[in-house]
Amino acid sequence: MTEQNFIPKAYSESIEKGQFTWSSPSNIALVKYWGKKDNQIPQNPSISFTLDNCKTTTTLRFSKKENQDNFSFDVFLDGDKKDDFKPKIETFFKRIEVYLPFLKEYHFTIETSNTFPHSSGIASSASGMSALAMCLMSVEKQLSNAVAPSEEEGSFESYDDYFNKKASFLARLGSGSACRSIEGDLIVWGEHREIKGSSDLFGTKYPYKVHENFKNYQDTILLVDKGEKRVSSTVGHNLMHNHPFAEQRFKQANENLYKLIEIFKSGDINAFIEIIESEALTLHAMMMTSLPYFILMKPNTLEIINKIWLFRQHTGLPVSFTLDAGANVHVLYPEKDAASVLEFIKNELVAYCENGHYICDIIGFGAKQL
Ligand code: DP6
Repeated sequence: MTEQNFIPKAYSESIEKGQFTWSSPSNIALVKYWGKKDNQIPQNPSISFTLDNCKTTTTLRFSKKENQDNFSFDVFLDGDKKDDFKPKIETFFKRIEVYLPFLKEYHFTIETSNTFPHSSGIASSASGMSALAMCLMSVEKQLSNAVAPSEEEGSFESYDDYFNKKASFLARLGSGSACRSIEGDLIVWGEHREIKGSSDLFGTKYPYKVHENFKNYQDTILLVDKGEKRVSSTVGHNLMHNHPFAEQRFKQANENLYKLIEIFKSGDINAFIEIIESEALTLHAMMMTSLPYFILMKPNTLEIINKIWLFRQHTGLPVSFTLDAGANVHVLYPEKDAASVLEFIKNELVAYCENGHYICDIIGFGAKQL
């Protein structure tokens, strides 16, 4: 599969105006994407759990316009006009125009809202870009009368397969991790030679056996620092260029993903914990050893990690953590232990959260049309 598979033929239908609404969740990486090549191609494969409660809902309204020389759109967050979001969307539109040639033919109104507070330190780029990509694919579906460009050549299993892959492909061009939010519950992005169907161009469902232990996995997000991220992910990824440990790190991510195949099959939670916690700490180690260097963890991040380790040691319960590029902690645990772990979180961890804020989430199954 190449980029060419996503360039449409001339559309058969003509539409004056319309609107579509999609909700799309955030996701949490188990093996991290950190480092990219040109055109949003990842340096290593990653895998994530799709979340459920943390999501963005986007309504895209479109109407045909006279002048078709430029992109024209307005963005609203919770009903307020957000002109500061426009440059990111303009860049996104430029990147995807060749794949969605109708973009300059319409004026778009993008109305978006998140279930999590904007200033929670939870990145909204994955849920936001994937929701927008789904809305744009709904427009294309109508324009093409649900015919995929290379369906007849057997590149896609069905129109729905084309729709999801192209939505993920487009979302990736908005924000890399967004390509892992279209479906669930376990999504791989980036080519791995042992994972059938994996691609650098889009996310795909993890294709092998997953033990019951990992079904309905719980993710409680502890909001340690609700401030805006101090390092944008684009800047962060660039720090992996000429990073002294880059090659080793990319190799390690491949190996960790390989080890997870057996772990998902056998249900070995202890081995799972070792990999995901190591991935989280390695991500931060990469930031601490790049130039310029950053420490994104806060003292309370470390307090929480230590408490989790003590609790695990004392109770034997398989509670673990992962981090994204910030100070917040994602506490991960199996559904069957939810009651005991939640009690531990409330009694011992909430004190380390800013204003006591945390969000209970669970593994979900991707974007939904509303
Ligand atoms: C640490 O997807 O936000 O969350 O492609 O530049 O938009 P861009 O980066 P982004 O990076 C996410 C990095 C991460 C790890 C991960 O989700 O795999």
